[in-house]
Amino acid sequence: MENNEAKMKELLYDFRRYFEQLKDDGVEWVETSHLLPPGDTEVAPARKPEPARAYPRPEKSSRPRKTTPAYPEEKAAPAVQKPDLSSPAEKFRVLIERINNCRNCGLASTRNRAVPGEGGNALRILFVGEGPGAEEDRTGRPFVGRSGQLLDKILAAVSLTRNDIFITNIVKCRPPGNRDPHSEEVIACWPYLDEQIKILRPRVIVTLGAPAAKTLLDTTEGIGRLRGRFHDYHGIPLLPTYHPAYLLRSYTLENRKKVWEDMKLLREFIDKL
Ligand code: URA
Repeated sequence: MENNEAKMKELLYDFRRYFEQLKDDGVEWVETSHLLPPGDTEVAPARKPEPARAYPRPEKSSRPRKTTPAYPEEKAAPAVQKPDLSSPAEKFRVLIERINNCRNCGLASTRNRAVPGEGGNALRILFVGEGPGAEEDRTGRPFVGRSGQLLDKILAAVSLTRNDIFITNIVKCRPPGNRDPHSEEVIACWPYLDEQIKILRPRVIVTLGAPAAKTLLDTTEGIGRLRGRFHDYHGIPLLPTYHPAYLLRSYTLENRKKVWEDMKLLREFIDKL
């Protein structure tokens, strides 16, 4: 009898150590209803064991403890969008690459090279022309033909060089035969100019010719009425003037005087910055 009692004590002691060990390991509840004699209903109905407490027991070192907060690396990474931290120069480089590889309209199949634009942005002056001509299409550079040579002289008249301005076009690929760009081509190319403006953040925009002025100002008004004063492009002063190609075609004193007046307005504006 004494022997039985000693064995029972030992068994109870083992049980106790076993449950303490379980508790240490984070186990909060153990299913015991199957240990009751059949028909015994004095205990609460058995709850379904949760998978975290199921056997076999995991190795102690890797066992998650329900009451312990998970380590940061155990949490799933939240699905947040990474902010775009690239510099304006890097954004611009990527944009130029996209323009050079663009196939968003029919002009992609007739061009030799796209002409994204070029120049300096220290003074933040943006010139916008119409579209590349033959020489620009051959070289990939804007305003390098006869129009460009006249533009250089116009700029020099107000002490500006091509390095003082950034120059681009409404469409980045040459319309065949130097025709005006079609509206679907202007629309397809618009996101590039829009992004260029957002990255360069010009303090003033000068448009050369009717298509550029009409596109940016979203108007059907003729260039003759638009030129000679500043307009507003989303808070940026925009000065329309004649395209150098038009001046070359109509090289009258009157037209040259008008462009000179427009350039004087630009110079006065820059001098006040
Ligand atoms: N005319 C334009 O409008 N853009 C050029 O790049 C060249 C000529």
